Amino acid sequence: MDKQTYYITTPIYYPSSNLHIGHTYCTVMADAMARFKRLQGYDVMFLTGTDEHGQKIQTKADETGVTPQEYVDEIVAGIKDLWATMEISYDDFIRTTEDRHMKSVQQIWQRMYDKGDIYKGAYEGWYCTPCESFWTESQLEDGKCPDCGRPVEKASEEAYFFKLSNYANDILKLYDEHPEFLEPETRRNEMKSFIEQGLEDLCVSRCTFDWGIPVPGDPKHVMYVWVDALSNYITALGWPDSPEKYDKYWPADVHLVGKEIVRFHSIIWPAMLMSADLPLPKQVRGHGWLLLGGEKVSKSKAAKGADVIDPVILIERYGIDALKYFLLREYTFGQDGSFTNEVMLKRMNFDLANDLGNLLSRTVSMIQKYCGGAVPAAETKDALDEEIINMAIAVADKVSAHMDEFKFNNALEEIWALIARANKYIDEKEPWVLAKDEARKAELDTVMRNLAEVLRIVSVLIVPFMHTTSERMRVQLGLSGSEAVWKDAYEFYMMDGCTVEKGDMLFPRLDIDKELEELWTIGAGNAV
Ligand code: MSP
Repeated sequence: MDKQTYYITTPIYYPSSNLHIGHTYCTVMADAMARFKRLQGYDVMFLTGTDEHGQKIQTKADETGVTPQEYVDEIVAGIKDLWATMEISYDDFIRTTEDRHMKSVQQIWQRMYDKGDIYKGAYEGWYCTPCESFWTESQLEDGKCPDCGRPVEKASEEAYFFKLSNYANDILKLYDEHPEFLEPETRRNEMKSFIEQGLEDLCVSRCTFDWGIPVPGDPKHVMYVWVDALSNYITALGWPDSPEKYDKYWPADVHLVGKEIVRFHSIIWPAMLMSADLPLPKQVRGHGWLLLGGEKVSKSKAAKGADVIDPVILIERYGIDALKYFLLREYTFGQDGSFTNEVMLKRMNFDLANDLGNLLSRTVSMIQKYCGGAVPAAETKDALDEEIINMAIAVADKVSAHMDEFKFNNALEEIWALIARANKYIDEKEPWVLAKDEARKAELDTVMRNLAEVLRIVSVLIVPFMHTTSERMRVQLGLSGSEAVWKDAYEFYMMDGCTVEKGDMLFPRLDIDKELEELWTIGAGNAV
């Protein structure tokens, strides 16, 4: 039987400058989900990429004295390096300057045009150049761009429009009939009230710059950002000319996006697809922002010289798994959260070095000391043993339920509750006392075996979040030849014949004050 498919996307990032921790947050979540679904046996398609057209890029390239293509090529190479450093397991990377994208977008446009949904008119509005967004008077906040708060300019030009207003009722109906289309619910309610205030037709072309995809039949116009960008989710699948992947993976299971672009994904994108007579994605999920000193971490702030967090510095110092763990454990999906080095370092110390790292190193050392390194058989069982076994084999279902709701923090909390229970089990069982009494050798063996099995289950459960740590644990547990398989998280006694191998500490213990100081010194500090 064919495997069930799962198609997940990140937004395509603007290669206007290097990415920061905020962008990595979204991609890390998508990666964890993709790895989780693969672990569960799905045939996963995980797409990311870059959104390379538009005035802002053209201006940046001009300022730098290179062509827009040269400009984006360099930044995109850096983005791909970053994803490699972060071990992001994407299956495809779409660039909107690729031929495969540009040709398909023109066909989407043509379909919408043939439907009578695209017409030529004159655009008058308020334009925010950094956001590449036109705003109506009523959308402005204090006369400024409602997204970024920067000044806007009055602009008027000949332009094509998409009859978005025609689709308002269909979209409201979509939310009513398929509330799961837009999660979390707070985002859905925001979008409903946005639509109920009245949808205006959308300006979909520009003729004041040319760094974009030419409008079919009227090449002095280039497509305006959203038609070009949103289409990536199907052009990357080869729609319409090589539709093999499209047929297999579309409609997407989920578009993961930041809260400020939920509107484009849950109103414009479904309307475009309705116009082109194509199926709609199953779900759009809007996440919150990482904040620094109460404000969104952003490239424009970095450009002004304020703090912005470079993930590479953190990865070099603490490792990718520690950073990924922190991002997924600390923040609640859908809500904004403050980033501080101090909170990050504490999590790394308490959860990773102490709770997980110590559990593994204590267990491996004890199995070596008391059992010559061989994971023993468990021939006794009391109430405490029973409790930890039952808890361990029940965690996978809990993790799975949280993951399906994108509650990464709750999924990790469940895994860490098991780790905490295992640490407590050691204190309760006092193996060092059992070891002194030859008559209690069987009990001691049971404790060792149960701890090893719990750690094996943990090594499966953490694969989506920290696959390298999982592998390192499995080497120490004597499981290096066997792959972590999801269904094994439901089984308890699986380690007959395993021999443990002492390795390095999974995570070093950090001197938090010293680290905070050093981060300041290298320009990566942040105020709380
Ligand atoms: N190019 C568009 C997306 C087109 S998708 C068809 C775009 N690009 S972006 O580079 O500006 O932002 C990409 C994503 O990064 C957005 O989902 C945005 O929410 C996310 N983030 C940027 N800064 C962020 C934080 N500080 N915190 C969390 N996510 C943030 O928009």
